[in-house]
Amino acid sequence: MTEEVLDLTKLDEIAKEVGEERGALIPILQRAQHTYGYLPKEVLRAISERLSVPLSRVLGVATFYSQFHLTPRGRHVIQQCDGTACHVRGAKRIISAVERKLGIKAGEMTPDLKLTYEVVYCLGCCAIGPAAMVDEQVVGQLVPEKMLKIIDELE
Ligand code: FES
Repeated sequence: MTEEVLDLTKLDEIAKEVGEERGALIPILQRAQHTYGYLPKEVLRAISERLSVPLSRVLGVATFYSQFHLTPRGRHVIQQCDGTACHVRGAKRIISAVERKLGIKAGEMTPDLKLTYEVVYCLGCCAIGPAAMVDEQVVGQLVPEKMLKIIDELE
């Protein structure tokens, strides 16, 4: 299997924007994730060297915050809420329907790298639950059919 070669020079741009102080660790991780789609080990190592922060600390921060992802993600990301309000309104049925349709479990990515499907607990919009984030967009009042249609319409 060929390993993808990462263009670490993109970190130069990021460092120019947010600086290379130790306190810039979180903003750099955020920008790096935005640039690479996730935080590959090579990128974490490079950030550790640039900021003179031990790799263990960089890893600690990257694994502590749920916003950071250390494994590749699909071109699209759906985060289905199964918090209390969404749960009582049928989120579980949506999750089962999506898992069946995609042939993956929540937390996984489809083999064609198109979609990462995750379950989260409260998106802060309980009134429109069951709710989900489809990429950057909140969708509410979901039922299984509506979510399956949304998935079908993703490019
Ligand atoms: S419980 Fe789902 S948005 Fe709050």
